Amino acid sequence: MKKTRIIGLFSAMALAPALAGAAEPTDGHPTYAKEVSRIIQDNCQICHQPGQIGPMSLTSYEEVRPWAPLIQLRVSQREMPPYQYDNHVGVQELKDDWRLSDADIKTVVDWVDAGSPLGNLEDLPPAREYPAVGEWRLAAELGQPDHIIKSTPWDVPANGQDLWWEPEVDAGISETRCIKAVETLPSTAAHGSTHHANSQFLVQDEKGEWVTYGRLSEFAYGKLGEKTPEGACRTAPANSKVEWSIHYFPDGNFVKDDQVSVGIWYYDEEDNFDEKTAYRQDLRLYNLESGGDYLIPPHGTLMTQGFHSFDHPVRIDSWQPHLHLRGVAMSMEVFNPATGKRETLSQASNWNAGWNHSHTYEDGFQPLIPAGSMIILTSWYDNTANNPRNPDPDQWVGAGQRTTDEMSHAWIAVTHLDDEGYQKLSAEREARDQQTVASTGGAQ
Ligand code: HEC
Repeated sequence: MKKTRIIGLFSAMALAPALAGAAEPTDGHPTYAKEVSRIIQDNCQICHQPGQIGPMSLTSYEEVRPWAPLIQLRVSQREMPPYQYDNHVGVQELKDDWRLSDADIKTVVDWVDAGSPLGNLEDLPPAREYPAVGEWRLAAELGQPDHIIKSTPWDVPANGQDLWWEPEVDAGISETRCIKAVETLPSTAAHGSTHHANSQFLVQDEKGEWVTYGRLSEFAYGKLGEKTPEGACRTAPANSKVEWSIHYFPDGNFVKDDQVSVGIWYYDEEDNFDEKTAYRQDLRLYNLESGGDYLIPPHGTLMTQGFHSFDHPVRIDSWQPHLHLRGVAMSMEVFNPATGKRETLSQASNWNAGWNHSHTYEDGFQPLIPAGSMIILTSWYDNTANNPRNPDPDQWVGAGQRTTDEMSHAWIAVTHLDDEGYQKLSAEREARDQQTVASTGGAQ
């Protein structure tokens, strides 16, 4: 059992006399029973329950109450739920968006300011049920996966620091197919310690060297699987390997021979949906600062940029920034030389290397990029003592693989269109936006 959880229990006991008096009239303030319990069920318990990666369980008033001040802090700073994506900048329509609404944040803040009252027991919602550990979440909709790839067995220690395990395995794919959906599943035993797990395909180039082909999947605890948007084909390449990057965070349990699995669902050929008929989607790494050649001075800051253009129109389906400990923010913009217009698509200005999210744009809101336009990726680094995650501001920091080196790239899923596809998607959106304007009397 983790230390924090024991502390949580003891503080709950110490507070027991105070709890008895907590159900007083609330003068219009939010209460745990009525409002806050629902926010915590919807947004926190998936991780904050026994056996999951959250350091303490938040499933009852007794468990939540001792943490109220810290909950107020982490929620108002938008650090919990962990999801680094700016509000009010760029595209806000995202799938599986974990951000709390401003209204929910205000409710939590007001509740703690009011002394974290319990309220009336009749207002409490029924306890929430969670999906069974060790089962594919997409199975309810899609059945069992068509193909499963597992990481090489590895022993997860009971205690210690963060650990990374990066094996390469044969993908076992003999025929190139279009991926319909993909999901990553940690083992039942290491469910609480598998913090995140990423996997990518490697293929052999003409010289026989193994090179990156594209991302297969990305997992952070609490995430569902990912589906390829309609009309796009993300390929699982034949004769490939899969390279894993698994981040374990020991949780007190020793797990022998742990394996993480990734399940793939394919599009059927009879759907008449294959490589030949659909637009190709790929999920690739886009670098900043070619060759990663930069140095951040001790107690200094730095900004780097990367530029990528396309000779055909594309649709951007998702964006996943990646930085290490000195990295504090990244943005993605698009510059159209034909119009001179520059626009921010997405920004994460509260970067935390402990979490890696792929921000998937909602269908119909994925940025459409005309041929010749340029994607501009910008990263900011802070090697001063002001950066709370900086392990040592006295060091020069260069680009590299170690956690203490810096890294800067984005994983971006791109659907490669042609002129016809671009016109069609643009027209659909124009029609939709006109309808919205009409139905709101032009108030938008
Ligand atoms: C995806 C999983 C996940 C979700 C969802 C999540 N948490 Fe957490 N939480 C964690 C992990 C892991 C930690 C420990 C690492 C850290 O502090 O970032 C943590 C830490 C915390 C802490 C700090 C505990 C300490 O000892 O410093 C608080 C408070 C907290 N969470 C509250 C919440 C609240 C409230 C919500 C919902 C509004 C929430 N969390 C949602 C995983 C999660």
